[in-house]
Amino acid sequence: MQQPSRRVTSSQTGAHPALARTVAKHLRQTWQRPLAAHSRQAFAACVEPVAAWSGPIILDAGCGTGVSSLQLAIDNPEALVLGVDKSAVRLGRGLPDDRPGNLLLLRADLVDLWRLAAATGWKLAKHYLFYPNPWPKPGHFGRRWHAHPVFPTLLALGGELELRTNWETYALEWQQALALHGRRAELDSLDASTAASIVSPFERKYLLSGQRCFRVRVIATADLCPLRH
Ligand SMILES: C[S@@+](CC[C@H](N)C(=O)[O-])C[C@H]1O[C@@H](n2cnc3c(N)ncnc32)[C@H](O)[C@@H]1O
Repeated sequence: MQQPSRRVTSSQTGAHPALARTVAKHLRQTWQRPLAAHSRQAFAACVEPVAAWSGPIILDAGCGTGVSSLQLAIDNPEALVLGVDKSAVRLGRGLPDDRPGNLLLLRADLVDLWRLAAATGWKLAKHYLFYPNPWPKPGHFGRRWHAHPVFPTLLALGGELELRTNWETYALEWQQALALHGRRAELDSLDASTAASIVSPFERKYLLSGQRCFRVRVIATADLCPLRH
């Protein structure tokens, strides 16, 4: 039987005090870290299928095993679904060999993949981040995606953006970071009784342990002005 999952605990109460400053800093500066050769190689594997695809592109960023990506591919047969994760151990584990033709699983570091995709001009129809590592220690704040220098690039890929997390603070910070980028987003919560369907193994684990999960969906992109400096 699966062990109950522990709630996220943190000494941080409320949004991190450096949130606005950090988001503004990354908005002002283009991140220059060199791209890793293995990232370029991994990206090369999906350039052609994406270019050849005439329908929408959906990115499941940090897909873990790819269970959620598989379901997205089944639910959206007109779309090409890319499931990306850096863990070779997780990616594809437990998935059937006979997978839909519109599903592509890619082992890559998102930090580089997002930048390569933006530089190639990709425009996503939908972009999901299901249960990214929360990094709850205040000192690890900079590792949360919304506090990372890659965040503006992630947003530049466009599309309907949805984040899910079992840590409310992460959801609140994500929503605030989006607002600083001029995106209005709706935050709601799910529990085992309200979730229409479970999207991923981590969501299953959390909901079945009695935890609440949080969902942040961008509902508009053009009605607010981003922070300017
Ligand atoms: C908590 S798991 C969630 C997995 C899956 N989305 C789910 O809900 O079941 C977070 C995943 O993000 C992946 N990840 C973290 N940082 C990453 C990065 N820089 N590039 C690619 N994947 C990353 C990890 O390998 C891990 O599989």
